[in-house]
Amino acid sequence: MKVKELQHTFHQELDVHYDKEEVDSFFFMLLSYWYHIERIKLALEPNLILEDDSKMFKALDRLKKQQPIQYILGETEFFGLPFKVTEFTLIPRPETEELVEWIVNHQGEFNKKMRIIDIGTGSGCIAISLAKNIPNAEVFGLDVSADALKIARQNADLNKVNVHFMEANILDSTTWPDVLFQMEFDVIVSNPPYVRELEKSLMKANVLDHEPHLALFVKDEDPLVFYKAITQFATKKLTDKGALFFEINEYLGNEMIHLLTENKFKNILLKQDMFKKDRMIKGEKN
Ligand SMILES: C[S@@+](CC[C@H](N)C(=O)[O-])C[C@H]1O[C@@H](n2cnc3c(N)ncnc32)[C@H](O)[C@@H]1O
Repeated sequence: MKVKELQHTFHQELDVHYDKEEVDSFFFMLLSYWYHIERIKLALEPNLILEDDSKMFKALDRLKKQQPIQYILGETEFFGLPFKVTEFTLIPRPETEELVEWIVNHQGEFNKKMRIIDIGTGSGCIAISLAKNIPNAEVFGLDVSADALKIARQNADLNKVNVHFMEANILDSTTWPDVLFQMEFDVIVSNPPYVRELEKSLMKANVLDHEPHLALFVKDEDPLVFYKAITQFATKKLTDKGALFFEINEYLGNEMIHLLTENKFKNILLKQDMFKKDRMIKGEKN
């Protein structure tokens, strides 16, 4: 089929679901990723033909079902690095890149070898980006999902870094491996599940229907369940000058300040993301 005709079919089928620009953006991402055809090539060769277009039609079907383009491609970019993603891993968000950047900039506080743990590591995007950008760090990643950890390990290989991944439930210390009891960490970071059930109505179908609910949701009655457990963990497991970094629910900034203050953290800083939403917080042990 001619690429131009295929583009027309994409618009016919998808313009009811997405903006026209978004449809073009999906179309050219797929073409570039799978066939190495860039937008400029199509402009220069309007009669270009795609010999085997079956993959494009399969992608079209999945886009009609509102499946995220990152799952269709099986890959995304985070902090300038490639990451495999599947339906078992949350798609890394740009807000989380800002959290990573904050930690990378903070590492000057530690001019020795340092140890970092990322709790709820998912695709491993935080742990791996930190390992890549802080060469003197020994990095650990923990998740309750064996399926997510499988992808995280592949991502560490893909990015040629060494991260120690472990399967454990942060809410249940009986599942923790011994190393977790034995070690202290200079940085504890987490982007845990934080979306309340009551916020489901604000979410788009592509997130709600396709991303793992294990990674997203908490009960309305106890939205800080992970933050409380991880803060408790941090009070015991941070080194003296250690720091705790969280990505947070934009509606719960004050509650988070309260939680860290109550647990005697110092230099507490709430930070907004690029969308001017309260999105991350840091506290230091001493
Ligand atoms: C919001 S996602 C974050 C994933 C990744 N760190 C990121 O920033 O894109 C939360 C992660 O926490 C994990 N998780 C959920 N419940 C957990 C638990 N009880 N113990 C450990 N990890 C858990 C999920 O599997 C998911 O990978």
